Amino acid sequence: MHRDIEKILIPPERIAERVRQMGAQVAQDLERELGPLDDTAEHVVFVPILTGSIVFVADLIRQLPLKLSLEMVAVSSYPGKSIESKGVALRGQLPANLRGKHVIVIDDILDSGQTLDVIGRLIQEQCPASLRLCVLLRKPGKAKIDVKVDYVGFDIPDEFVVGYGLDYDGFYRNYPAIATLRAEAR
Ligand code: IMP
Ligand code: MG
Repeated sequence: MHRDIEKILIPPERIAERVRQMGAQVAQDLERELGPLDDTAEHVVFVPILTGSIVFVADLIRQLPLKLSLEMVAVSSYPGKSIESKGVALRGQLPANLRGKHVIVIDDILDSGQTLDVIGRLIQEQCPASLRLCVLLRKPGKAKIDVKVDYVGFDIPDEFVVGYGLDYDGFYRNYPAIATLRAEAR
């Protein structure tokens, strides 16, 4: 794995620090909206988009001192190879019990915006009490669809990255930093 890595863009310590800050921000916003987190936060549902967001959501939720539930959603970008998504398809079911809940959708990266646009609309149809979108990474200027995200960890240059959950062709999700791949590895 390590020999395929070209350049580290964001080392693990910087990711950890930023995820701590994001957790604090999310907690503060929820508290403002719901009141003391111990009393009212049972209505908070985190919806990670599989598979890329699993490392991020695992770290983020452990920063949050409140009762919350997790409901996964799986999408596939096609056509298969991983560099550019040409569209998204929901795989399996969307969580069906989001009416009246405070929903926070988590994804690894906002690129074209298609994934979050589709998932956001589908969830909105269920009439949640609120809906927020949270991503670890964003490539500014890449979005084809104007999606309003509430929380962004890092803006990164328009390069294909792996690690901390992000994959190339299914691999490198366990690499602990955000990094680019050598051309020979792609
Ligand atoms: P969007 O639908 O184009 O916004 O793309 C979002 C999805 O594409 C993410 O959830 C990732 O799975 C994938 N993706 C986009 N850019 C990258 C990248 O640089 N590395 C790995 N996956 C990426
Ligand atoms: Mg992905």
